[in-house]
Amino acid sequence: MNICVFGIGYVGLSASICLAKLGHNIICIDKDFKKINNLKNGVIPIFEPKIKELIKENKDKLTFETSLDKNLQNIDIYIIAVGTPTKDNGEVDVKSIYEVIDTIINNATKNSIIINKSTVPIGFNNKLQDYINTKTSLKLDVISNPEFLRQGSAIDDFLNPERIILGYNSDFALKKVLEMYKPMQLKEEQIITTDLNSSEMIKYASNSFLALKISFINEISKLCEKTNANIEQVKKGLMSDSRIGKKFLNCGIGYGGSCFPKDTKALVNIAKNHNIELKTIKSAIEANEAQIDYFLQKILSFYKENISNKTFALLGLAFKPNTNDLREAPSIKLINKLATLGANIIAYDPKARYDKVKQLNNIAQIFDNADCLIIATEWDEFKDIDIKLFKKLKDKVIFDGRNIFKNRNLEEYGLKYFCVGKNE
Ligand SMILES: NC(=O)c1ccc[n+]([C@@H]2O[C@H](COP(=O)([O-])OP(=O)(O)OC[C@H]3O[C@@H](n4cnc5c(N)ncnc54)[C@H](O)[C@@H]3O)[C@@H](O)[C@H]2O)c1
Repeated sequence: MNICVFGIGYVGLSASICLAKLGHNIICIDKDFKKINNLKNGVIPIFEPKIKELIKENKDKLTFETSLDKNLQNIDIYIIAVGTPTKDNGEVDVKSIYEVIDTIINNATKNSIIINKSTVPIGFNNKLQDYINTKTSLKLDVISNPEFLRQGSAIDDFLNPERIILGYNSDFALKKVLEMYKPMQLKEEQIITTDLNSSEMIKYASNSFLALKISFINEISKLCEKTNANIEQVKKGLMSDSRIGKKFLNCGIGYGGSCFPKDTKALVNIAKNHNIELKTIKSAIEANEAQIDYFLQKILSFYKENISNKTFALLGLAFKPNTNDLREAPSIKLINKLATLGANIIAYDPKARYDKVKQLNNIAQIFDNADCLIIATEWDEFKDIDIKLFKKLKDKVIFDGRNIFKNRNLEEYGLKYFCVGKNE
């Protein structure tokens, strides 16, 4: 099939590459000239495992453009993967989607379908269909296909999805989208077809539920510290209950990224417009925002509220491992707070770059002049670090925001170790 993908970010690029691997011809369109130019020259704008190799393998099936050129007709499927940020007032900004839709309407020459992968408010895709129908006599049917890939494992998630949600109004469109996914040889139970509104709600409800789990375990971890319980033991007990499940029960310094913070806030706002107060999700947001201050307080208590001129070595900038994405990363919030209090920070991250902090490319060097260490992201590379490096820390103290060294008996090396959910 000839497929045109709009918005070549984390979702759009991953989807394009995977669809090319499945045998389709993909035109990747992004209005960011620099990004497209880089991609044309083989420079990949994001870090995501397996992406580089797959682009290379499928380069004949991928074209990168900044606009839908008149010569690029004969499109069977359009896919929308542009950003849908949440505005300050909680509303979802869908402006980019309308930009794309107008481009499609102005260029389409035959009936085809539009798959919307961007996360949009409940009811939006129905409105979009009405908008399209008033602007063109062509049949351009909208399918809502919210994306569930996770940054850090985007390629594997796309190619082996737990479920594909397809919200639809038209049998023609459903048939086409199933044809697009056919090479994946999915099992029947991996495909859930539903109406447009329900598919949109599934996306928001999923992300909000996961955010709730993280905030829940973070709150329980705080209480563990006060009651002399050990969160790692508590987690083990919780996880053995199949009703609770084994995932999203790691406590830490809170969730970040481009999805959970924005989608929880958007859902609260959507509910408010229907005079419903989502108390659980509001609390999850509040607990998440408080988590970084809770961790900061551990640091301040150790230093008796004075960290001015202390030098912090900080491991991990990305909002989670295996991505270079800094959007809403807890590390950045922490760095800003520490800097406001007069601290110096020297950071290391395998892939993420943050130009407002001094960053070194060699992990060992960040210990050279540091007073203490903070872990902000749980990259695997940090878990095996040589403990001898810690001895260089002048104040012999580690604040582990991701509990990655909880089993390393650091006290034996004369180090003071603070983590989350375990009393010292
Ligand atoms: N990042 C994730 O892990 C993830 C997972 C599931 C769903 N989503 C959703 O998918 C959507 C995209 O997320 P993302 O993280 O890939 O965003 P992103 O910011 O990484 O990429 C969006 C891209 O769209 C481009 N764009 C904006 N307007 C455009 C236009 N008019 N024409 C062409 N390109 C345009 C931007 O230049 C940018 O490159 C969002 O709705 C998000 O909520 C994201």
